[in-house]
Amino acid sequence: MLDHLGNLERTHSCGELRAEHIGNNVLLMGWVAKRRDFGELTFVDLRDRAGITQVVFNSEDASEAHAKAKDLRGEYVIAVKGDVVARDANTRNPKIATGDVEVRARELFVLNDARTPPFQLDASGDALASEDLRLKFRYLDLRRSQLQANLHLRHRVTNEIRRYMTAQGFTEIETPILIKSTPEGARDYIVPSRIQPGKFFALPQSPQLFKQLCMIGGLDKYFQIAHCFRDEDLRADRQPEFTQLDVEMSFARLEDIYRLIEGLFASVFKLINVDLPVPFPRFTFAEVMNRFGSDKPDLRIQGLELKEIDVPGLAEGEQAKGIVVSGGAKLSRKTLDELQEFAKRYGAKFLAWIKLGDEISSSLLKALGAETVAKIADTAGAEKGDAVLIVSGKPKVVAASLGALRNEVAKRENLIPSDVYAPLWVTDFPMFEFHEEDGRYYSMHHPFTSPVDEDLQLLERAVEGGETNLLGQIRTKAYDPVINGVEMASGSIRIHRRDVQRLVFKALGMTTEEARERFGFFLDALEYGTPPHGGIAPGIDRLMMVLAGTDNMRDVIAFPKTASAADLMIDAPGGVDPKQLDELHLRIVED
Ligand code: AMO
Repeated sequence: MLDHLGNLERTHSCGELRAEHIGNNVLLMGWVAKRRDFGELTFVDLRDRAGITQVVFNSEDASEAHAKAKDLRGEYVIAVKGDVVARDANTRNPKIATGDVEVRARELFVLNDARTPPFQLDASGDALASEDLRLKFRYLDLRRSQLQANLHLRHRVTNEIRRYMTAQGFTEIETPILIKSTPEGARDYIVPSRIQPGKFFALPQSPQLFKQLCMIGGLDKYFQIAHCFRDEDLRADRQPEFTQLDVEMSFARLEDIYRLIEGLFASVFKLINVDLPVPFPRFTFAEVMNRFGSDKPDLRIQGLELKEIDVPGLAEGEQAKGIVVSGGAKLSRKTLDELQEFAKRYGAKFLAWIKLGDEISSSLLKALGAETVAKIADTAGAEKGDAVLIVSGKPKVVAASLGALRNEVAKRENLIPSDVYAPLWVTDFPMFEFHEEDGRYYSMHHPFTSPVDEDLQLLERAVEGGETNLLGQIRTKAYDPVINGVEMASGSIRIHRRDVQRLVFKALGMTTEEARERFGFFLDALEYGTPPHGGIAPGIDRLMMVLAGTDNMRDVIAFPKTASAADLMIDAPGGVDPKQLDELHLRIVED
């Protein structure tokens, strides 16, 4: 028999009772986390979002409640009326905030029962059930204190973001979800139109064009906590739908954006009691690629920088670089083999090594001879006891594999200090990158990114003078803040001149007709007095991962999707009724 909630009213949460509450008469509600029976005494750990309180049912004080408590099972929902009492010295539990006290129950109300959960809710670490099972029963996994803490923190973060942006004079503006394709480089999720057969909306990969149109519309300072949708290959730090803090401002210089975002991150990190060092150091893209092999270097790692290495016999267009692992002479053959396999995943043909132990040993000894090998180690700056790991090949491959190795070696050798936050700006990204697969240039950021003023003439020469090879040299006013090796945001000063925007579309191989078809509305808008403007979009899920200290994005999203872009709880994506397809004029073609 279940009890009604009736007029029962909570006096406290399950996380707040302390010694100072001893003697209070309280009413708590929550879930039965654990029940232990000792005949005369029954203990129940009562859990709600705030924590756990121990409740004691005593057959002498409250025989009716005690009898009822015998039937409680895990996850039953109950209300308990009782008195706060001190725990005996030997039963105090310093692990929980309420561990000095317990509630001696007088009355018990069973508000709901529960089936036995499919997995143990209070498990952690290795004891956690498989993630798929937990995702299927996400509403149960959400009861776990870690997920609760992450989501409550997430709320405080978005709250702080809104407070800060408002104080800086920004206005929150909603942009539509049913739109036309925006070019952020992923595939669109599309939505068929019923009213216009054969036509489709696309879900926004970001509100990029709308926020620029807000600037053209004179709104001056825009922000939005915006849902974005991208049908792309997923990794641990990507979800098919995710949230950005989308920002745009008119008449903005680079410095204005840097200051705004540094202030924002600093005030958000205060929520986890971290004083982020501001201003962030700035590095150009060319410099970080050269020194760290990555456009999102982890600056918590000291050293392990890439050094140019003079290796005889390199082919045209190839280079060799190495990193010096301090104390690396002790690296075992097995470790070196594993690092070799690791480097290959990033395209390296092989990983050469030199170890400066009592003697020099090296995978290059046979090919290059002892003298050359010693010289290489020396120019790389290696000392006795160190190792040098070397990759040669196309600069892109060398950077990618050594950049990844830098992180991997640091992880294996415990060179990454915890509780340190190392932010930086990466600036001056190239405008275009060349894709060998189809032999053409793509925007590195997106096609609305402004070139740096000095390089505008390169764009003109490349597009109008036919000097296409200059495209790879154009730098942009694009910037990414990076913290601890995570790209936290991306942004740029935009193109506000229609002539420049046309050049960029042309450089991307779009004909005038194609550009009109896709972005006609935007090209038109650029004709009516567009102010210089720029913006940025921090990824809130990424930010939350760093704040919550997790490397799994699903830990900071209430209802996330799996790596195959599915929601296991609601079983989506799913089929639709043939009638719905008919209405949409769609037919499924079976392979
Ligand atoms: P960009 O595509 O770099 O830029 O995205 C900005 C930030 O959004 C986050 N992010 C993601 N987070 C989770 N899952 C994903 N699939 C995902 N993709 C991106 C990252 C990234 O740094 N319109 C531009 C911004 C601008 O120029 O103002 C844009 O969307 O943290």
